Amino acid sequence: MSSSSGLSKIRSALVVLSAGALVAAGAVSLQPGPAQAATGDSLGVAAAKAGLFFGVAASPGRLSSIVGQEFNQLTPENEMKPEAIAGSGGTVQNTGNADTLVNYAQNNNMIVRGHTMVWYSQAGSLSGANQSTLNTYIKNVLLKWGNKIAYWDVVNESLDDNNTGNRRNQWPHTLDKDANNDGDYFDSTDTDYIRDSFKQARQVVQANNLKTKLCINDYDIEGLTVKGGSKNKKSDAMYEIVKKYSQEPTKYIDCVGFQAHFNDNPNSVITDDLEANIRRYAELGVEVHLSELDIDDDLSNNDIGKGQAENYRKVVRACLNVSKCTGITVWGISDSESWRSSERGLLFTGSNGSYTKKAAYTAVLEELKKGRGTVDPTPTPSEDPTPTPTPSEDPTPSDTPTDPQTGTCRVTYSDNTWNSGFTAAVTVENTGSDAIDGWSLSWTWPGNQKVTSAWNATVTQSGNQVTARNASYNNLLAPGAKASFGFQASYSGSNDAPEQFALNGETCSLG
Ligand code: XIL
Repeated sequence: MSSSSGLSKIRSALVVLSAGALVAAGAVSLQPGPAQAATGDSLGVAAAKAGLFFGVAASPGRLSSIVGQEFNQLTPENEMKPEAIAGSGGTVQNTGNADTLVNYAQNNNMIVRGHTMVWYSQAGSLSGANQSTLNTYIKNVLLKWGNKIAYWDVVNESLDDNNTGNRRNQWPHTLDKDANNDGDYFDSTDTDYIRDSFKQARQVVQANNLKTKLCINDYDIEGLTVKGGSKNKKSDAMYEIVKKYSQEPTKYIDCVGFQAHFNDNPNSVITDDLEANIRRYAELGVEVHLSELDIDDDLSNNDIGKGQAENYRKVVRACLNVSKCTGITVWGISDSESWRSSERGLLFTGSNGSYTKKAAYTAVLEELKKGRGTVDPTPTPSEDPTPTPTPSEDPTPSDTPTDPQTGTCRVTYSDNTWNSGFTAAVTVENTGSDAIDGWSLSWTWPGNQKVTSAWNATVTQSGNQVTARNASYNNLLAPGAKASFGFQASYSGSNDAPEQFALNGETCSLG
């Protein structure tokens, strides 16, 4: 890809890495697994089309067919916690249950989020360990599953409750030392278990050429503000940690998990600024996951009164609107089997593999099917690293040079690339003053890319020439309206983006 092309800038700005991350694990792709392909319609399929994963926390006793049918990502709910698998001195043992989950995921084309390495709770024999033992453990767990794990929560729940913005005070924080007493643990003379744990994980990943991505995970960090509108100090503190350790020269952290256990606690309700908060982390270059989502049904009565399904819709939409929000995981299949069963926070009712979809399920599926492109992000001052120029409503003054953005169409193109394939999301906008009834977008591949399937458009390819024609339901493009479609393709060598698109024969601007 030529670094001077406008499109390359758009591509890097619109980083949609989920498939890259999915395949970063080397084992799976965004394609539906066998069980998903059988049903044709599921959360995982809809999410994959939108370029993110939609997963579930599971245990070996809950691996009914619904897991492979509905989800394309799996998090072991307890089976990879040190309590389950850490032996003495940082060794790893008793991995049978975790292996069962990993194998299930592989057989069903699901990616795995490993959860979790360094955590004050459920630490088992690791509890109280020094950094050297933690490092041994980190190395052992990373090497145990290698690229079968796409993402690992290296550090979990490092920050205190009650919106203090401080770290928790128990182990492993007891390893920390603020050498110069300046109130943080970021100086080179300080000791920081978060830094040191990620540093070790990064070294192991690099030395072994792993593609596993390294995440930090916590709760009550979802909103920019908390209930009542005060600043979310816990989220601000996490932001500083992620900023410090995701940028040069450290580059240890790849991803942050917002647990998203939404309940009545004033610090964990769903705020209107969830999307803006996801975006500020995304702008650091890290992926964001809603890693343990459940939404207390009582919220619909007690707190914000919109109903659980609408809350789910809102949360999913916030993620979809930020391209680096690359995955959502619900913390269990059904209400009765949830760790918070009294709060009825999940997408299904029922038990033992016999499940019924709730309104929340339908809301999530509908929202996922809308994809990323159909609802514009709510503008916030800092939201977009490369703001898309808005066509002026007012006529351009006659003495002003021609606005490069006026013309009849504008195209954005973003891809998620892995070793041999990719998915792409394309949005075409009618920037002219006349409605377009029936559209056809064409481009030329610079390499040997070959489209294999598509959604929301009919895509045909002859040689390296591609044409995407509207579907029956998105043929009409009023002035200012957009249509989005996506496709999956194979390639070898490099996967450079097309340099130019034409809509009904007219060259479009990019961005
Ligand atoms: C929970 C599990 O769901 C329960 O089965 C277990 O008894 C306790 O842990 N934050 C996390 C998860 O990071 O690991 C927790 O999982 C829920 C809160």
